[in-house]
Amino acid sequence: MSEKAEFIKDLSLPVIAAPMFLISGPKLVVECCKNGIVGTFPALNQRTSEGFEEWLIQIKSELEQFEKETGKKPAPFGVNLIVHPTNPRLEADVKLCMKHKVPLVITSLGAVSQVVNAIHSYGGLVFHDIIKKRHAEKAAEAGVDGLILVSAGAGGHAGNLNPMSLVHEVKKFFHKTIILSGCISTGQDIATALQMGADLAYMGTRFINTEESKAPEEYRKMIIEAGASDVIYTAAISGVHANFLAASLKAAGVSEEDLKKDRKIDFGKELNTEAKAWKTIWSAGQGVTTIDDVLPVSKLVKTLKTGFKNAIEEQYKLLEVFPKN
Ligand SMILES: Cc1cc2nc3c(=O)[nH]c(=O)nc-3n(C[C@H](O)[C@H](O)[C@H](O)COP(=O)(O)O)c2cc1C
Repeated sequence: MSEKAEFIKDLSLPVIAAPMFLISGPKLVVECCKNGIVGTFPALNQRTSEGFEEWLIQIKSELEQFEKETGKKPAPFGVNLIVHPTNPRLEADVKLCMKHKVPLVITSLGAVSQVVNAIHSYGGLVFHDIIKKRHAEKAAEAGVDGLILVSAGAGGHAGNLNPMSLVHEVKKFFHKTIILSGCISTGQDIATALQMGADLAYMGTRFINTEESKAPEEYRKMIIEAGASDVIYTAAISGVHANFLAASLKAAGVSEEDLKKDRKIDFGKELNTEAKAWKTIWSAGQGVTTIDDVLPVSKLVKTLKTGFKNAIEEQYKLLEVFPKN
C-alpha cells in the first residue's frame, strides 16, 4: 500500500497554498480549495479559539455549498498549529480540529505523538514542517503523515539548506508524503519540485500576491518590485532566522548592523519605532523574483497549470537529445 497521501491524486495541481501569518484567511482558503489545490491558514490568524472555530465553520459551509452547487469535490483544507509550550491555545485548538474534522493539520516547531494521534483519531492527516534532518527524524518518530521541507530562500522562517540535498536526505528514511517549500512560484517550479522527488509543492509568497490574501497593497507592490537579493535572512526581527523584504526593513529604520544581531531587536527601546515583525516588516521568499502581478486565485491556478504542463512537455522533449552515447 502506498504511504503517500490519498488526496493528492484528486487535486487539480499538486500544490498546497502554505499557511501565512496575517495573510491567509477563509477567503483565500476557500478559493484555493474550489480551484482544486489545498488551502490553509494558521489558527493564530484568529486572536481566540472562538474566532478560529468561526472560521472553521465558515470554510466548511462555503465548501459544502460549492459542492452542492457544482457537483465538484473541493480540495481538502488545512490548519497550521504551533506546537510549542508558548502557545497556550494548543489544546483548545486541537479539540476544535477534532470537533470539525479538519482534513489536514500542519504542525510547526514541535512534532508530538499526542497531537498526531488526536488528528488520526478522526481520519485527519498531519504534515510537519522541518528545516533539517534531525527535526525530520523526530517528526517521523512522532508518526506524522508528511514532511514539509522548508529550504533556503523560503518566505517566513526559512531554512538554509539547498532543496536538492534536503529532499535526498529526508527521502533516505522517510517514505510517506514529501512536500517541498521554498521559492516555488511558477508552474515550472512545481514541475521541478516533483522532478526533485517531492509529492507536493508548498507555495507561500506567490499567494501573498493574490486578490484573496489579506496583504496590504503596499506589501504586494514591494513583492513585485523586489528581486531575490532584496530578501534578507536575519534573526533580528523575530528571534529566529526568517526572510524579510529589504525595503520594509529600511522603512522601519533597521540598519545593516541591527540585522547582524543574533536576537530579536526591541523595536521600541532600541530603535524608537512602532515597527512590528510581520505586520509592518514584511516577509517574503526569494521566489519574489518571478512575481510581477496580483491575480485572483482562479487565474493564478490556471496560469500555474499551463506553466506546469509546458515544463513537463519541454522536459520530455529532451529525451530526443539526451542521454547520448
Ligand atoms: C508572510 C509569511 C507568513 C508566514 N507565516 C507562517 C505561519 O504562520 N506558519 C507557518 O507554518 N509558516 C508560515 N510561513 C511559511 C510558509 O508557510 C511557507 O513555508 C513559505 O512561505 C514557503 O516559501 P515561499 O514563500 O518561498 O513560497 C509564512 C511565510 C510568509 C511569507
